[in-house]
Amino acid sequence: MSTLNVLHMSDLHIGDKYRNFLKRFGYVPYNPDALVAVAEFAYKQKNEYDAIIVSGDVVSVAYKDNLVLAKSFFETDTGLVHNREWLYSESKPTLASCQKPVIIMPGNHDKFKGILGFPVKKPFENVFKKYWKSDRIQVYKLPSENDPQLGIVCVDLTLNSFIDSTVLGGHFGQGRLYDDEIEDLKNITKKTKEMSAVTWMIHFAPCVEEHFELEDIEEMRLLNSETLIKTARELGIRYIFCGHTHIHHNYMVSKDIEVLCCGTTACVEGNKVDTTMFLHEIDIDGLDITSINSKRVNYDIVRQEFTYDIVRQEFTYEENDDKQMLFGWLK
Ligand SMILES: [Fe+2]
Repeated sequence: MSTLNVLHMSDLHIGDKYRNFLKRFGYVPYNPDALVAVAEFAYKQKNEYDAIIVSGDVVSVAYKDNLVLAKSFFETDTGLVHNREWLYSESKPTLASCQKPVIIMPGNHDKFKGILGFPVKKPFENVFKKYWKSDRIQVYKLPSENDPQLGIVCVDLTLNSFIDSTVLGGHFGQGRLYDDEIEDLKNITKKTKEMSAVTWMIHFAPCVEEHFELEDIEEMRLLNSETLIKTARELGIRYIFCGHTHIHHNYMVSKDIEVLCCGTTACVEGNKVDTTMFLHEIDIDGLDITSINSKRVNYDIVRQEFTYDIVRQEFTYEENDDKQMLFGWLK
């Protein structure tokens, strides 16, 4: 038995270019104070986790300035001796001082060519090439490549083209698992499972229409969630990390697959969003994940800090020889 702890962030939406302009069109951009608080929490809690995972939408629009600013959040050294190791200048936060592996995958906003949101590959992959190559499926091993106890298979489900959306405006928020990627996903997952326990991370919350009450739900759907879930079941995947909705939610998409949806970690806008991150404690027995217990970390807008909030505890029971998963939230 071993335990790995990951700090799960999502939907940071970093970027100052056209920030106010986008706000007028209903996009919720990052809040600079919240981003400082993210870095402060991550630094102060650095002994509590082994890696940071980010399930997409690190920027609002993939302009180079935004991507470079986002990248600086992940890796700019403070370069200064002071007592706020999470800042690299007066007000610019960084995770570099945490000195932990960081796993980053793209979401739909990371592919927005401009404010019209047409999907484009290059800018994100150029700036974030250290974290994300051009392949659609990538595996990260924790705690390290040499000691793989957990493989996180990250699947980029962003649209290749705006014509792949199904409704007007769907290119802004829809995702898709393309048919020709299913075999790759199966093969990569199986290969990873030979060496370690495996979980998936995607950006888009699967079956979003059944589990969230959100406006414009059709425009933010993962188009073939059913295929993704069927594939996950075939492969014995029990947990899927994701984001996209800006609302935190844990839900079962079948009796044995749980989705751990993060909320947004740096956007703060009235009651419409959950500004959260999660500390997931992942218990591993050989090649299996036996349970994931999580602490929610919530942003206090008045105090401008993140604090532990509630705990999600998982337990299993046997019924008719069929293992069922249950979880509950504890205050
Ligand atoms: Fe998204």
